[in-house]
Amino acid sequence: MQNGRHLSLSAGHGPAPDLQRRRLLALAGLAGAAPALLSACAGASPGATAAPPTPASALQAYPPMAPGAESGADAAVHRQIQALGRGINFGNIFDAPREGDWGLRADDSLIDLVGEGRFTRSVRLPVRWSNHASTDAAARIDEAFFARVERTVDRLLARGASVLLNIHHYRQLDGDPLDPGETPVDPAVVDLRFLALWVQIAERFANRGPALMFEIYNEPHGRLEPLWNDLLSRALRVIRRQNPTRVVVIGPTEWNSARALPRLVLPADRFVSLTVHHYEPFRFTHQGAEWVSPRLPLGVDCCDAPQRAEALALLDQAAADGRRRNHPVLVGEFGAYSKAPLEARVRYLRFMRDAMEARGLPWMAWELASGFGIYDPVAGRMRPELFDALFGA
Ligand code: BGC
Repeated sequence: MQNGRHLSLSAGHGPAPDLQRRRLLALAGLAGAAPALLSACAGASPGATAAPPTPASALQAYPPMAPGAESGADAAVHRQIQALGRGINFGNIFDAPREGDWGLRADDSLIDLVGEGRFTRSVRLPVRWSNHASTDAAARIDEAFFARVERTVDRLLARGASVLLNIHHYRQLDGDPLDPGETPVDPAVVDLRFLALWVQIAERFANRGPALMFEIYNEPHGRLEPLWNDLLSRALRVIRRQNPTRVVVIGPTEWNSARALPRLVLPADRFVSLTVHHYEPFRFTHQGAEWVSPRLPLGVDCCDAPQRAEALALLDQAAADGRRRNHPVLVGEFGAYSKAPLEARVRYLRFMRDAMEARGLPWMAWELASGFGIYDPVAGRMRPELFDALFGA
């Protein structure tokens, strides 16, 4: 239960200098995969589903934002992102192939932990829409799933929470192997589906207040490396049709690493915030993680001077990039997996919290109630050491 993800193989963060975090090949899953999946893989690494970029002509229904110099962010966006303060990811719920596959559901027992008067009012809600939508270019979102996510968003908003809703783990978009239970789509519609998902999400939530924010895509990497600036610009334009001033959060490639910020091109839009994810020192935070290949050895401590320097350099880079562009920066994920020694996790979390706050960076810990989690859903209580390290005095 603690790690509801033991059967899953998930995308990663990286690359640490000598360690490109890669998904394991889901060989078992592939053995049972449809021929369509195998043909979708042609030319890619075994098990991957890398589709060629969609030609611009096919994307013409989704034009990019008008070209223009980056604009910096509105003062209200700076204030809103800053006010997120200390937040939490509702991870391993809707980002699993199906809700419940990784051991957690969006039950009220979790929702009621956050909101006004609780330990946090800032929630990131990762959602794997791609696995709940038709496989054609229209990517029609399954109504029961849509309603389920919507109910969760609305309950969180009603509790006074700020909610960052995203698209998470659209495996083919990154060219990653699919998870068990996922259906491959025609490579020609991969990017179109992503934009069609945003058409529906942006329309469905257009009348919510500013406490609902959108994040265009979690941790772009792999196939998206050369495509991301173009695709995010098209997605932002879709969102802006009905959400002209809603805060939209955008991160760089390399799994949202600050290292890739220099390559990120933001459209001229004053209601955008930057985001980065931060899992350095990776050999510490991901020791024993089943979804990292090769599996990293256990027993790594934290945080000596070189480890601290590695972590701080990336935070400094993120903060400096935000200052240069005049956009706020949210650290949307960081954390250490439960296989790391508990005392070291506590030291790492407190170190990270202090370091981010010293740099004026609001943050959202990965995650609430699963393998990295601060809350034990079986015992129905916080894990006190982890909770205090992040949210204690
Ligand atoms: C991924 C999760 C993963 C976590 C830590 C997140 O971005 O979505 O699947 O557990 O990073 O590796």
